[in-house]
Amino acid sequence: MEFITLYNGVKMPILGFGTYKAKGDDCANAVKWALEAGYRMIDTAEMYQNEKEVAKGIKAAGVKREDLFIVTKVSFKSYENAREAVMNSLKNLETDYLDLVLLHWPIANYYKAWRELEKLYKEGVIRAIGVSNFDPDRLIDVLSFNEIKPMINQIETHLYCQRKVDHEYEDKYGVAHMGYSPLGQGKVNEVFDEPLVIELAKKYNKTVQQILIRFSIDLGVVTIPKSVHKERIEANFDVLDFSLTKEEMEKLGELDRAYPNTGRAEDPKRIEYSLTW
Ligand SMILES: NC(=O)c1ccc[n+]([C@@H]2O[C@H](COP(=O)([O-])OP(=O)(O)OC[C@H]3O[C@@H](n4cnc5c(N)ncnc54)[C@H](OP(=O)(O)O)[C@@H]3O)[C@@H](O)[C@H]2O)c1
Repeated sequence: MEFITLYNGVKMPILGFGTYKAKGDDCANAVKWALEAGYRMIDTAEMYQNEKEVAKGIKAAGVKREDLFIVTKVSFKSYENAREAVMNSLKNLETDYLDLVLLHWPIANYYKAWRELEKLYKEGVIRAIGVSNFDPDRLIDVLSFNEIKPMINQIETHLYCQRKVDHEYEDKYGVAHMGYSPLGQGKVNEVFDEPLVIELAKKYNKTVQQILIRFSIDLGVVTIPKSVHKERIEANFDVLDFSLTKEEMEKLGELDRAYPNTGRAEDPKRIEYSLTW
């Protein structure tokens, strides 16, 4: 496994397992298969309502807690009482500490929530704290007026949404870049039909999905593909034995469309949509 080191010295795997929309037994089985395949980082969220199933999958796989890197997120609906939300996540995930906790969206009272995460970090309940879906302006805001800077920002990142500007600002402020939806959520299906990706898949004897996941890793971005299918879960992990060349990364870099499926956090339509959750 390749790792990145957060600015507080915490090491995290560059490849983890996503669980958005994975529910019930599908989720528990997927987590078990992921751990059996070799993943050690699992990404969940209060909003996904699957933390208990994640815990079930972890138990079934029998991996030791200290070998795992568990990530969860506080929903903006809980920002007025982030401590209670984190305590619930601990209970659901059957653990007494979390490796990384993120604020899910930069809406509602995220300052209050951030200051609670700072306390929980200092108390040793959380090893690292960060944010998610924070565009550079929100990131600079939150890191400028709080005691502890976010260690990581989780944002949609894939071939068609490479987040080059976000990455520059994250680098500038020492915040690590965690990407989500490396496969474009499987619904931006043209990404699977992209001729250059197909060509590279043939060259490396890999699938297009493996090329897309490797692309994220070679950008230096932590990535968390999701699947509930055993073969896909295993295949998506089988990307650690090759890397793309500088020239290939440059050509792939030209395919950026620079707009996320999930919309920009500052887009009013995006905010209105989020409020319906
Ligand atoms: N912070 C945030 O706001 C946020 C937002 C979105 C996602 N995330 C996190 O990032 C993780 C990954 O993102 P995502 O779930 O949105 O999208 P993704 O990982 O880009 O794509 C997942 C989709 O691709 C399909 N898929 C997976 N592997 C495949 C393969 N080898 N071949 C063909 N199809 C494949 C999956 O279907 P099957 O499951 O049916 O295989 C699923 O429909 C999430 O699960 C979540 O943990 C965070």
